[in-house]
Amino acid sequence: MLSRSQWLLIISCVLFCDLHKKIQCATGQPNVVFIVADDLGWNDVGFHGSNQIPTPNIDALAYNGIILNSHYGQSYGTPSRAALFTGKYPMKLGMQGPSITPGESRALPQGKLISEYFKEMGYATHLIGKWNLGYSRWNDTPTLRGFDHFLGLYNSFSSYYDYVTSWKFNGKDYGGFDLRRDTVPSWNDAGKYATDLFTEEAVDVIQKHNVNTPLFMMIAHLAVHIGNEGKWLEAPQETVNKFKHIRDPNRRTYAAMVSKLDDSIGAVFEALDAKNMLQNTIIVFISDNGAPTVGPSHNWGSNYPLRGIKDTLFEGGVRTVACIWSPLLVQSSRVSTDLIHITDWLPTLFTAVGGDLGVLDPDLDGIDQWSSLVYDLPSARNDIPLNIDEKTRNAALRFSYWKLIVGTSGNGSYNSYFGAPLNEDIDPQSYNTSAINDSPIGRIARKINYNPLSENDFEGLRNVATLKCLDAKAKRNPCDPASGAVCLYNIPNDPCEENDLAKFFPSVVRRIKRTLVDYRQGLIPQMEVTTDIDNADPKLYQYAWNPWRDCSDVSCSS
Ligand SMILES: *[C@@H]1O[C@H](CO)[C@@H](O)[C@H](O)[C@H]1NC(C)=O
Ligand SMILES: *[C@@H]1O[C@H](CO)[C@@H](O)[C@H](O)[C@H]1NC(C)=O
Repeated sequence: MLSRSQWLLIISCVLFCDLHKKIQCATGQPNVVFIVADDLGWNDVGFHGSNQIPTPNIDALAYNGIILNSHYGQSYGTPSRAALFTGKYPMKLGMQGPSITPGESRALPQGKLISEYFKEMGYATHLIGKWNLGYSRWNDTPTLRGFDHFLGLYNSFSSYYDYVTSWKFNGKDYGGFDLRRDTVPSWNDAGKYATDLFTEEAVDVIQKHNVNTPLFMMIAHLAVHIGNEGKWLEAPQETVNKFKHIRDPNRRTYAAMVSKLDDSIGAVFEALDAKNMLQNTIIVFISDNGAPTVGPSHNWGSNYPLRGIKDTLFEGGVRTVACIWSPLLVQSSRVSTDLIHITDWLPTLFTAVGGDLGVLDPDLDGIDQWSSLVYDLPSARNDIPLNIDEKTRNAALRFSYWKLIVGTSGNGSYNSYFGAPLNEDIDPQSYNTSAINDSPIGRIARKINYNPLSENDFEGLRNVATLKCLDAKAKRNPCDPASGAVCLYNIPNDPCEENDLAKFFPSVVRRIKRTLVDYRQGLIPQMEVTTDIDNADPKLYQYAWNPWRDCSDVSCSS
């Protein structure tokens, strides 16, 4: 017996084959390629309206798929990834606190991850790139948590060529190699630029893939996170040289890093095409959170005109770049403003591949959005608890078109606007739509679509996807929760969070506060940050970062 979602899959496949695309109808479970950028800014992709950093592949993917313009993650890496892998709100896992730093014992609690669900469905599962969900014990690491194969780093960052993670703790310096192929340090891969290395690995996985098995591949790029102190940003010089129009040398390097990321997505798409896998593949591209334009992990990315940066609950921290592409999407080439949260991917993709939702953990917070994506039906999600941090007392809830923020992260110094384009930059005056058509994804999309998008279509979609702040004459009362105020915004009208409406809508404030209190009931106190770095010191493990708490076990000395 086929389940309802399997029938839907077949029906949508038949529809798409007959009506929409030139490529053959695929049978079998769709492949899933999930690409996560790290700390990429809202304003750093072409399809959101900036001309400064051309991203023709990402734009082609977005225009031929669906631009998810109200996609929310958590405000920084570990909680976002925890939400993605588990389908649960981080506050339900005790993971609403800070990201996991090198030599820390915290890890994602045991419980089934997206990789394990896909593995049980018969998928070959690969993680390429960053983990950042704990590694103090082998059982915390990706190859013991549902991934058949892993090439990447355990920590939250490393340098881009030599894969060294340096960390200061209590005035002492720790440092070691952090690149692993499955369980073993991969010294031979050192020297190759991280984005290229991960791309080549992904292409290699695709080329060697046995097409009788469905593929689940997550590519969690290091880009565009910073590396180590003193060499924050790294990119090949020939790519940096393409951005002479950007005066700030750091921003110029950042642009090159984004450009390499764009090339990577194009190369993965080409490899899927060459292997005839595209017709039955779903590709998702998101950032884990907004860019940290300034502050501790500042990478010169820009969320402008959104307010705030990574680590704040303003839109610049949590509303992320996102799009989905697949021939299975019947209603594509549109901009969706339906609420979608990073926890939704697990049930959504599980349904997309014909899984039975009844099999999933009943405590899941994610909501299945598959049919709303495929057929452009209203989404079942009405609110998103963006976080409740019981220690800092910073919380925010998106509730229909409203958003309420209480408390602040840090001392409130990032609650304003950063990353506005600099006057001295001579940015390309126009958006090069023919470069989108000429990009690998643009070329392949034209080949496989009966009605390829025109350059005017690109402009039209981009115009819809570009946020418009309040007009110049509108009243402004920005509100700063750092002062103790409760701030309320109407996000569709005021995406830049410039005009607080709390005093005009006290009943809305009360209603949302009640919902926050309800969510608070399910909160598990956040795990203590337990740094154990002297035991984790890479010096003890041939200068590689390594699990250290169960070292009597297998591969400790590998
Ligand atoms: C707030 O924190 C930032 C960054 O840590 C620091 O530079 C600034 O001086 C602090 N401001 C106040 C008012 O404490
Ligand atoms: C736009 O892109 C096309 C194709 O990549 C290129 O040939 C052309 O020179 C670009 N135009 C401008 C103004 O940069």
